[in-house]
Amino acid sequence: MVTSDPSLAPPASAPSLRSFIQRNSEFGGRKLRKFANYIDLYERIFSQFVGRRPRILEIGVQHGGSLRMWQDYFRGEAEIFGIDLLPECKRFEEDNVQIFIGDQSDSKFISDVSSRIGSLDIVIDDGSHVPRHQIASFEQFFYNNLTEGGYYIVEDCNTSYWHHYGGGLKRKGTFIEFSKDLCDAVNAWHAGNKKLPVTNATRWIKRITFESSLVVFEKQLMEAPPHISSGNEEIDTQDIFADASYGHLLKYLRGFAPLRYAVRNNQFLWNLMRKNIEKK
Ligand SMILES: C[S@@+](CC[C@H](N)C(=O)[O-])C[C@H]1O[C@@H](n2cnc3c(N)ncnc32)[C@H](O)[C@@H]1O
Repeated sequence: MVTSDPSLAPPASAPSLRSFIQRNSEFGGRKLRKFANYIDLYERIFSQFVGRRPRILEIGVQHGGSLRMWQDYFRGEAEIFGIDLLPECKRFEEDNVQIFIGDQSDSKFISDVSSRIGSLDIVIDDGSHVPRHQIASFEQFFYNNLTEGGYYIVEDCNTSYWHHYGGGLKRKGTFIEFSKDLCDAVNAWHAGNKKLPVTNATRWIKRITFESSLVVFEKQLMEAPPHISSGNEEIDTQDIFADASYGHLLKYLRGFAPLRYAVRNNQFLWNLMRKNIEKK
């Protein structure tokens, strides 16, 4: 069957975004444009949602090509939501596709959409690419809509480095710097620092993946990770020091936190400690 609608083409044996992109080009379907590395990552992380009727929000609809791609990949079983400034995007609404027209930087609009659409398994922000807007949308949809096990994806973070988008290398307020701060939040369990308390981000972000222009957050309810210990056969670390020259002194002194700090942070003292162990 030859058709201009790639989603009506015979499905490939396994869901594949690349197969859709190829069919979409051949049949001249709705336009989409994404960096190639996104597609490789999406092939990896989206497969787990096939057959599970995922609920997906994409901020930035434009020509509707990517919404068509999600429909095709999930065999028409996904519930898809789109947000765009352009009223023309409303035409892409279908049975399982709902489009909201508005501005992702408008907190009232975003909060209204958030309460109307309910839970989401995947959020893709491909809207304005303005770091301030990306942060505001993340704060709204990651915490209020994304389910446990869900993915929050921010595309085209290259704008975090572009002056005309309010970006710049290590400039405060960019989405990349915001995400780096969230790396700190993920580690707050261990920091023992009042300036880095356990927050909602610590409790809900399981993993952050940085790729070229892309940041992906995986949501899961976290707790301070317990240690796993197994087996009871050990080497005698006490005697390593006791048998070295000055060993008894070292064995005694290593109990002092200031000495441990000094040895860890001074390469000369570290080498001295190591030589004592090696002389054993
Ligand atoms: C890069 S295009 C989206 C492309 C589409 N996701 C795809 O992959 O085919 C960005 C879209 O975001 C929309 N947009 C820009 N600023 C926006 C804003 N503040 N709020 C909502 N949509 C916005 C634009 O109108 C445009 O259609």
